[in-house]
Amino acid sequence: MLTSDRMLIRGGRPLSGRVRAQGAKNAALPVMAASLLLKGRSLKLSRVPDLQDIHTMADLLRHLGAEIEFKDGTMTIDVPEDLKWETPSDLVRKMRASSLVLGPLVARCGRAVLPLPGGCAIGSRPIDFHLKALTRMGAEIDLEQGSVHARTDGLSATRINFDFPSVGATENIMMTAALTEGETTIENAAREPEIENLADALRAMGASVEGDGTSTVSVKGARDLVSAKVTIIPDRIEASTYLLAGMITRGRVAVDGIDPAYAAALLSKLEEAGITAATSDDSVSLDCRGAGWNGVTIKTLPYPGFPTDMQPQIMAALCLADGTSIIHESVFDSRYMHVGEFRRMGCKIDIQGNTVVITGVPQISGAEVHASDLRAGAALILLGLAAEGETVVCALKHVWRGYERLTDKLRSLGADIELLPDGESADKFDDAGD
Ligand code: UD1
Repeated sequence: MLTSDRMLIRGGRPLSGRVRAQGAKNAALPVMAASLLLKGRSLKLSRVPDLQDIHTMADLLRHLGAEIEFKDGTMTIDVPEDLKWETPSDLVRKMRASSLVLGPLVARCGRAVLPLPGGCAIGSRPIDFHLKALTRMGAEIDLEQGSVHARTDGLSATRINFDFPSVGATENIMMTAALTEGETTIENAAREPEIENLADALRAMGASVEGDGTSTVSVKGARDLVSAKVTIIPDRIEASTYLLAGMITRGRVAVDGIDPAYAAALLSKLEEAGITAATSDDSVSLDCRGAGWNGVTIKTLPYPGFPTDMQPQIMAALCLADGTSIIHESVFDSRYMHVGEFRRMGCKIDIQGNTVVITGVPQISGAEVHASDLRAGAALILLGLAAEGETVVCALKHVWRGYERLTDKLRSLGADIELLPDGESADKFDDAGD
């Protein structure tokens, strides 16, 4: 895997061509965690993206006792009869999604220790919903020396109502419920497509799951789950990032292997801005040759609203719009760390609390900039592709967490980019986000 930390971009070239969407990182991570529900059986996943976060989750599962083979997008996870239930802080702190093993471990082993994830570059991100819901199901939870200690003599099915449709909390409780006898009902559940992919996996393993994709999900658990095969859905955030790479460079990019419905919120905002996508059953393309676009107002929301994971990338495109745009970030409490770096490239952005006002400019210029987190890094690359002159995006380690073969894919579209050896410019930001 590439580990280079900086990318040199010679901007101003319209991107053109087709790329294929990778499997969704945010679907693969919970499905991998769900393997822990098995005992002496295996889970086989296809279309798994080769990403840093996937390797972190694989290392965590190996630490707990699983055996994992991963080659050419296919991952086989063999889970032994006996599992460890203490998770190591070095792995957990690398990635917030490590908290997805908590529910499966409590359900499977009756115990779990998980170092509490700290804040990250996109907000405070507590896991209180996960913990309250596990407590309602009969787990005793204590916080000792910065770690969650959970134990139970037996969980029971119940009704859970989340204060906010948290993706991770919905997933954790669906997995816990899959091994808990009786019917657990989750109200105000998250409705993301990744939740449906996890539900498919749990059904294939023998649990009964209904209502996934709606805000009420019911799970009837089984005593013992069975070996299963699951295909990971396409990554809507990666696919959307390439579409915006085509748009911001005024080129023509098509993404294959993605259901356009997954990108509906983005496509409808682009249409409002004056850019209409062409879609088929499994591809989306934007022809922006010679195009301009207008400013729009966007509020990030849980699915099916506009995804917070596309907020930095759409902000990059709106910096070059005709007129003013407004973005209101309603999912995370501090997801504007990238704005300072955007300004270094000539973007005009004012921040007022969780709202930004963007005044479109006709041109931006290259600069050395630092990625504060995964999607911020992707957005800086988009700006670099559109900017006049050379841009160096530093701290790419954040970007490798979520974009498979990024350099190859961008080059295949005609981008003039080069990976540079790790520079002196130390990482300014510490991130366990996304
Ligand atoms: C997942 C995605 C991430 C995406 C986010 C929102 C994965 C691996 N990551 O993260 O890319 O940005 O959904 O779409 O799928 N909250 C609490 N208490 C909790 C849980 C959440 O207050 O117990 C808050 C969070 O701080 C945040 C909001 O709820 O403000 C949404 O978080 P959540 O949906 O849980 O995001 P993640 O599952 O962490």
